[in-house]
Amino acid sequence: MSQVISAQNLGKTFHAHGRTVHAVRDVSLSVAAGEAVGIVGESGCGKTTTARMLLRLEDPTAGRIVFEGEDITHRRGAALLPFRARAQLVFQNPFDALNPRFTIRRALAEPLANFGVPRAEHAGRIEAVMQRVRLTPSASWLDRHPHELSGGQLQRVVLARALIPGPRLIVADEPVSMLDVSVRAGILNLLRAARDELGLAAVYISHDLALIRYVCERTLVMYLGAVVEEGPTVDLIERPHHPYTRALVAAVPVPRIEQDRAPLPIKGALSDAPLVGPGCAFRDRCPAAFGRCAVETPPLRELSGRRKVACHLGDPA
Ligand SMILES: Nc1ncnc2c1ncn2[C@@H]1O[C@H](COP(=O)(O)OP(=O)(O)O)[C@@H](O)[C@H]1O
Ligand SMILES: [Mg+2]
Repeated sequence: MSQVISAQNLGKTFHAHGRTVHAVRDVSLSVAAGEAVGIVGESGCGKTTTARMLLRLEDPTAGRIVFEGEDITHRRGAALLPFRARAQLVFQNPFDALNPRFTIRRALAEPLANFGVPRAEHAGRIEAVMQRVRLTPSASWLDRHPHELSGGQLQRVVLARALIPGPRLIVADEPVSMLDVSVRAGILNLLRAARDELGLAAVYISHDLALIRYVCERTLVMYLGAVVEEGPTVDLIERPHHPYTRALVAAVPVPRIEQDRAPLPIKGALSDAPLVGPGCAFRDRCPAAFGRCAVETPPLRELSGRRKVACHLGDPA
């Protein structure tokens, strides 16, 4: 499979108000054409910062990003324009993503103009993308303004706006969290159809394991800026190895096959986690922590079946 994007050891440190925040400490991921990869973890674990680095909306402080075979880590300004057309963000809140004064037609024409698509092609591209997001007949939608559309219809326009430049990668950060449950599946199915038909690479960011299970073949679990577990989604949810993943899985009503591992209740809140240093970042909340966890940072080690885990439990070493 050809990798559309490949990121290695991404890190991001913010310095704000005299404080240093290690928002992302170590994230590596690759996404192939047609593949959907999920990133899950509780609020504040660095999901959005990771998404923004993948899209080069945020400069990484460590690591490397290769997109379609080219190292784009340090590319800036105009040199990033071709990448901007090929790597698109689907916004979380459709009400914020669209200019309220623009018609839908203008919202869709704007990215085409920005990326230098000749005017003669605009009407055809707009018609095609309206078909793709099932807002048809397009003539009944294109002259409307955002306030005349429902949340679900607006999210279709947001998706159309992301697809119209012809991206190879879509990054969706909590793509349906602002929508009614009743319209979520419709949007997710449209995204999936677009991915299948166009062979797009997709990254879905969510705190919601049920959503990730529905759309992603492979999933990374983040805890305090680092990947603690990854693997094929169904296998990871049904047989989580990391105590943190086990707690996440136990907290949501997804059907599980294996019942022999009792869910582990985690202690405290994210703010109780130890600051970065040697040892496992999860140890103070982990019901299974032992001596080694306080002194040695567990590396993300490979298991069988394309699984990886960063935990000393069960490590033969
Ligand atoms: N621009 C910023 N300046 C300072 N800290 C930030 C900034 N953006 C994010 N952070 C911090 O980085 C951490 C990760 O945030 P974020 O990536 O938004 O997590 P998530 O999307 O998983 O909720 C949080 O502690 C957050 O407060
Ligand atoms: Mg976020």
